Amino acid sequence: MKEQKTIGIGFIGFGTVGQGVWKHLNAQRETLEARLGVKISFPRIAVKNINRKRDVVVPAGVLTDDPMSVVNDPAVTIVCELMGGTEEAKDYTLAALKLGKVVVTANKALIYKSGRELFDAVSKFGGHYYFEASVAGAIPIIKTLREGLVANRFASIAGIINGTCNYILSRMEAEGKSYEEILEDAKSLGYVEQDDSLDLDGWDAFHKAVILAFLAHGKWVSEDDALVEGIRQVTLEDMHRARDFGYRIKLIGMIRRDFKTGAMSVGVYPALIPLDKTLARVDGVYNAIKLSGDVAGTTILIGRGAGRDATSSAVISDIVDAMIGIRDNAHKFLTKQDLEACKRLGESARMATMDEICSKFYLRISVVDEPGILVGVYNVFAQNNVSIARVITYEHPGERRGTVTMATYPTSEAIMEKVTAELEALPQVRTKPLLLRIYESTRE
Ligand code: NDP
Ligand code: HSE
Repeated sequence: MKEQKTIGIGFIGFGTVGQGVWKHLNAQRETLEARLGVKISFPRIAVKNINRKRDVVVPAGVLTDDPMSVVNDPAVTIVCELMGGTEEAKDYTLAALKLGKVVVTANKALIYKSGRELFDAVSKFGGHYYFEASVAGAIPIIKTLREGLVANRFASIAGIINGTCNYILSRMEAEGKSYEEILEDAKSLGYVEQDDSLDLDGWDAFHKAVILAFLAHGKWVSEDDALVEGIRQVTLEDMHRARDFGYRIKLIGMIRRDFKTGAMSVGVYPALIPLDKTLARVDGVYNAIKLSGDVAGTTILIGRGAGRDATSSAVISDIVDAMIGIRDNAHKFLTKQDLEACKRLGESARMATMDEICSKFYLRISVVDEPGILVGVYNVFAQNNVSIARVITYEHPGERRGTVTMATYPTSEAIMEKVTAELEALPQVRTKPLLLRIYESTRE
């Protein structure tokens, strides 16, 4: 009988995600070994502090504080980089790829920062890089883009792609608490990045959007070419005002491509979603991604976007794909041909200008409560040729101030930047108006 191949899986990082992967892979080990016809071993696990108490118990002698020893261990064929960060993680990933090994990761910050270089290393040295868990937790979005919906070109990919922010916004609205109060719970549930500003300021969602944009359109988008806003500016008052207009506020990632002009845009921002749309009903740590394909039409995927188990599920699916690739000596993912095809796809794309990026907008304007104030506000819209769809004004009893909320008809980012600046300059406007985008979905 033919002897079964043993595939060694090494870990660099054994925190929230790493321990989840280890736990669930061990639980499924016999089934997977039988299914794949290979033996699985776990020769080495690197952590920062080998004395830290872990949730899962690993055999003696497996833990090390030297990540390079995982990379260089001849018994390790698949390196799971689950440490996070963009400096050391890059060194270990590059070193493993240069040895022709497979690296599986959930590290979207690293892919955003060094994806080009890492993918070039894949092409040059023949290693493989799998990163399903880097976008939207348990949702198999990368497989869906590359396999299930491979026949499609995507005019739009939009969705909730940060679990922490969705968890915070959902609970703020339901419980009337501030984001600071809820953040601690999100941390204890393992949803939040080591640097929480990645989540709160929209960067984590942006990194994910950039990965999706690259896979869908072959273009690496930089932060200089994108709109990135987080949730810190969203107040409970905004949530109530949005409800009055028939919307809920969610942090969304939006990738748009006009195939006629080649213009594409990537943005991450809190947006008002009509109450009857699916995205408006996705709460808690759940993510949702709506893909508008030219062949399949609309597809919406919903699943848990962060946390130990959800993320482990995606990492394990990559590990299984990698094991099949190693067993058959034929990897499906991130081959040299893939990367060359992606580059060719990107040649016809260009970043849209602020005049080309259009949507409806919502404004919250804090004003001094005196007669005639609305005339000045309306004039700014009229002079900039922006049509107002709805207005609601609110008084604040006992105070000499009011709030004006407005929804516009579609106009461009460039025009609304000008409108906001002109409104802020009005003597009766107390602070910079809050400008949010209104999400519109054509086919759903
Ligand atoms: P944790 O902070 O829970 O775990 C990080 C692990 O890396 C720890 O085991 C830590 O060791 C180890 N580590 C850190 N620095 C070093 C170092 N210099 N050498 C060796 N080991 C080191 O992070 P997560 O598990 O939450 O996240 C891991 C990755 O997964 C990140 O890229 C994150 O963005 C991504 N991710 C996380 C999700 C989540 O829900 N948590 C979801 C999707 C992606 P020690 O334990 O000793 O401190
Ligand atoms: N911090 C990230 C989030 C983890 O909350 O979505 C999953 O990528």
